Amino acid sequence: MGKHHGKVKISIFALLWKKVLIMSEKNNTDPKQRNSGLSKSKNILQVRKKIALQGGGTKAIEKQKAGGKLTARERILALVDSNSFHEYDLFVEHAGRDFDMNKKYLPGDGVITGTGTINGHPICIFAQDFTVAGGSLGYMHAKKITKIMDHAMKLRVPLIGINDSGGARIQEGVNSLAGYGEIFYRNTQASGVIPQISVILGPCAGGAVYSPALTDFVFVVDKISKMFITGPEVIKTVLGEEISMEDLGGAKVHAEITGNAHFYAESEVECFEQIKSLVSFIPWNNKTTAKPFPKKTPRTRQYKIEDIFPSNPKQPYDVRDIIKSIADSSEFMEIQEKFAANIVIGFGRMEGRTVGFVANQPLVLAGVLDVDSSDKAARFIRYCDSFNIPLVTLVDLPGYLPGIDQEHSGVIRHGAKILYAYSEATVPKITLIMRKAYGGGYIAMCSNHLRADFVFAWPTAEIAVMGPEGAANIIFRNEIKNAENPDEVRKQKVKEYKDKFANPYVAAAYGYVDAVIEPDETRKMLIHALDISEEKRVDAPDKKHGIPPF
Ligand code: HXC
Repeated sequence: MGKHHGKVKISIFALLWKKVLIMSEKNNTDPKQRNSGLSKSKNILQVRKKIALQGGGTKAIEKQKAGGKLTARERILALVDSNSFHEYDLFVEHAGRDFDMNKKYLPGDGVITGTGTINGHPICIFAQDFTVAGGSLGYMHAKKITKIMDHAMKLRVPLIGINDSGGARIQEGVNSLAGYGEIFYRNTQASGVIPQISVILGPCAGGAVYSPALTDFVFVVDKISKMFITGPEVIKTVLGEEISMEDLGGAKVHAEITGNAHFYAESEVECFEQIKSLVSFIPWNNKTTAKPFPKKTPRTRQYKIEDIFPSNPKQPYDVRDIIKSIADSSEFMEIQEKFAANIVIGFGRMEGRTVGFVANQPLVLAGVLDVDSSDKAARFIRYCDSFNIPLVTLVDLPGYLPGIDQEHSGVIRHGAKILYAYSEATVPKITLIMRKAYGGGYIAMCSNHLRADFVFAWPTAEIAVMGPEGAANIIFRNEIKNAENPDEVRKQKVKEYKDKFANPYVAAAYGYVDAVIEPDETRKMLIHALDISEEKRVDAPDKKHGIPPF
């Protein structure tokens, strides 16, 4: 740092200090108290607080509000229990001295950090303040975040990050990159130890999106959230392509196309309600379990399996209704609802305990597994396994999606993730095969072979290498081709194959299915299986870690 810069810095702080003293004198209207030392320091504290709490000032706050956004402090207060928030490091000053940064005062260096409670449970939280230098991440800004992250890890409580930032503070150069590196490292160390929740509430660019990508759950809000590595301007300059911020990285893009977002809301307030609901389902750290809720029965008049599950095996149905027919209060918190909708993942409760549901969705692409649905399910399975949440898997799929696009997109590598995740998971794993369980799909959806603890099947289950039509066409190809009436023979051969394999009894005969059950016994059987698996212990092989097909 040059001498000149040092002098300017002193004069800026001298001016600020003078302002504080004058304001604190004005503030003190009680003549008796004016000379008391305690009163003077109290006043100084109040004035300093007042200045720091102004954030980026009236104009910047107005701009923030005009965009339909709350301020960083308002966001924290809207999320945590009332009167529970305690802020730290309010008086931290930015460290940048170049490019006239020494002449600026950035309250709290553009980020608010603290502790509070949600539903009575402690959490650590930070919220970037876009009104202060665009919430950009400088050296001290990063220090505040890493300090609260370290707290969260020491205290073993969830970390919630509200991101609203232009990314690395350009004027602070490598120090802001270092700050991001420190955050990413901590995100990775904390992964699987404490829940990490990211809320994207502004235009988040560059480093501001990689940290959320390393966390467990990302929340976005329509028209407010934007995430990209390089924004439209850079894309236009480098590639000549034109696109709006919204179309490049808006909330819908990440909730539906990229899968980077796990929850989508129409407003910030709705988003905070979603976060409160999510934290009610998850444990506070990996050494505990989610808080049990009072036991409640499903709303079976509204969600009745016999009304939901079609008698025609070719007819689709909404598997979320099956989940609601067995979950407490028919409550299901779906994750990544609009992304890879051919698989459904989310949290529910059974007899008050949190359960992670993974289910093929016959309504979308017949519930096949493909690149995106494998990624989606595999990550969720690993989350549940890390945080002691039992898995209930509902199976109805014709297998992996065939096609050039899928093969060239790496369906082998992506599809393997789900095999890896289920095989590795040691939490209780209960599987229900409702209808089709063909080929690799049968194995992948938490079969007995990937160490499901219990596999149940409805009488309608069809467990085979492939669908009867495809199978008959291959194994009876010559007989069909050489027959006088090929269509008739094909029909007969399909029936033959169906009678032999398209049922749960062959798998049950080998013990791959533990029990063939009536649909209306499902909840009772699942609850029993979950109850008796509560103390499940698995000795994993002694290794540092595996090498999943990332
Ligand atoms: C310093 C920044 C800043 C940044 C914004 N500001 N981003 N200051 N460093 N990265 C400042 C602006 O100069 C402005 O200051 C104030 O914040 C508000 O910004 P606006 O541009 O007026 O707001 P808006 O029009 O809403 O646009 C928001 C934005 C845009 C889309 C985020 O500011 C932007 O494109 N910023 C740069 C994004 C970026 O490329 N970041 C670096 C990424 S590289 P004044 O004083 O005028 O109010 C990176 C590397 C890490 O992060 C990679 C790790 C893997």
